[in-house]
Amino acid sequence: MLVDKLMTRKPSTLAHGPGSYDSLPVNETEASSAAHEPRHFTPHAPLYAFDLVVLPAALKNRIVTTATLLDRGNTVFDDWRLSEIGADQFAAFNFYGPPGIGKTMAAHAVADLLGRPIIQVRPGLIESPYIGETPKNIDSLFRAAEREGAILFFDEADVWLSRRIESPETVADHVLNSARAELLMWLDGYHGLVIFATNSVSSYDPAFLRRLIPFEFMPPTEAERIEIFWRHIPDPMPLAADVTEESIIPLLHGLMGRDIRRLIIDAAMNAVLDGSPAVSHTHFASAANGIAKSLPMTHDAQEQPPMADRRSHLIFISYRGSDQNWATEPVYARMTEAFGADTVFKAGNALRAGEEFPAIVKREAASCPVMLACIGPEWLTATAPDGSRRLDSPADWVQEEIAISLQAGNHVVPLLIGNRNEVALPKPDQVPESIRAMVYRQALWLAPGRGLDATIPMLVDCLAELVPELAERRRARSTTQPASVAQAPRDED
Ligand SMILES: Nc1ncnc2c1ncn2[C@@H]1O[C@H](COP(=O)(O)OP(=O)(O)OP(=O)(O)O)[C@@H](O)[C@H]1O
Ligand SMILES: [Mg+2]
Repeated sequence: MLVDKLMTRKPSTLAHGPGSYDSLPVNETEASSAAHEPRHFTPHAPLYAFDLVVLPAALKNRIVTTATLLDRGNTVFDDWRLSEIGADQFAAFNFYGPPGIGKTMAAHAVADLLGRPIIQVRPGLIESPYIGETPKNIDSLFRAAEREGAILFFDEADVWLSRRIESPETVADHVLNSARAELLMWLDGYHGLVIFATNSVSSYDPAFLRRLIPFEFMPPTEAERIEIFWRHIPDPMPLAADVTEESIIPLLHGLMGRDIRRLIIDAAMNAVLDGSPAVSHTHFASAANGIAKSLPMTHDAQEQPPMADRRSHLIFISYRGSDQNWATEPVYARMTEAFGADTVFKAGNALRAGEEFPAIVKREAASCPVMLACIGPEWLTATAPDGSRRLDSPADWVQEEIAISLQAGNHVVPLLIGNRNEVALPKPDQVPESIRAMVYRQALWLAPGRGLDATIPMLVDCLAELVPELAERRRARSTTQPASVAQAPRDED
């Protein structure tokens, strides 16, 4: 396991509380400076080093090489006075990409690499409602960085670098325009390294874009996500034996670095609340569920993942393609009618052309708190073209998705679909070990024709009882059904 000191590396910054990972503290002089005096900016030691930031090798190398070259170049310009012969050295980086993927970390890592302090600026620190004050603050900021040899880091840079307002009407418009003009001026003659970071590069003024060296940050790949995960697990955090790379990967699908950090913290809290001596897969799975539900609200609408990736699903319908009979579609239709289309995941309906099937199915199987395992007449016996039983193959999706859901601690409900002489709950020795736990779960029987109409409302009630959020969604759709659960007889009944 790769273990890192990410959470413990800089005790002095941890003293400011957990929020200080994302923002440097505003020191007292900055916070209390009088409205009409330019603010004073104090550099801080960088919070992160490159060995802590997981990025594609090509991007990391380009940042490191460019930063090193520019830093040496600046020595040449300043110390050897090449600037006096009028040559311009140009050194502003633009880190852009979705939120929570390491842009701020990388800016600190550049400062760490160059052995320089960093001044991190958020818009609120230099904005002033008084005309003329904001440019003065910008001036004071650049002078402080120059004097201290600090890296200047503008977070949420789109506020400053967006297009200038053509016909300013309000005082705020004028303030922004003069701030942008001041920034442009400083960028043109400045020899220190400036880093901008944004989630919204499309709003930048072309005048700024021409002066910036672009670095695009992409959401992490599967390998990067797992690396970020291990790097965030501190040495003393006890993990149960069922926390393995294989069991964690499906939970990380679609998550950004910041979500992964939250997953680990939430899982650890779950374990503490449980009184468990170690953090187990179930703790991680339930943390992943919580994050899944909050993601559409926290991620910028522009950055939202594709439809099948939105993580609001609560019910996963598992079925065998060759077995898809009269019942699977009605089950899907009635579940969406009761709980809403966003609640139900069925691969054939939720995935769109071109979407990455295996990763999405694995993630949904792990994160949906309920799986309806539709068992039709051919579920147990279906064979591959070579005559082997599909269920025994590790590549069988039905077997894999049920195993993932069981392992994640979800409710797996076997739905027996067909006439009583056609289907039965399999016996333990008829199914692979990976899904054996399912056959001990209470099953529901969906009989054809009028039987379906009688049973599905019961299934809806049963699910609403199992998962409070399903009850809420049903209430929101104001569909109420009489409650009582039909229980499928087992063979021995
Ligand atoms: N690439 C990564 N490698 C390691 N950890 C990461 C990575 N990306 C994010 N993290 C984790 O998420 C936290 C937040 O990341 P960071 O603040 O750098 O994101 P950001 O891209 O600047 O986001 P924003 O656009 O919202 O400012 C980090 O402190 C770290 O714990
Ligand atoms: Mg940031």
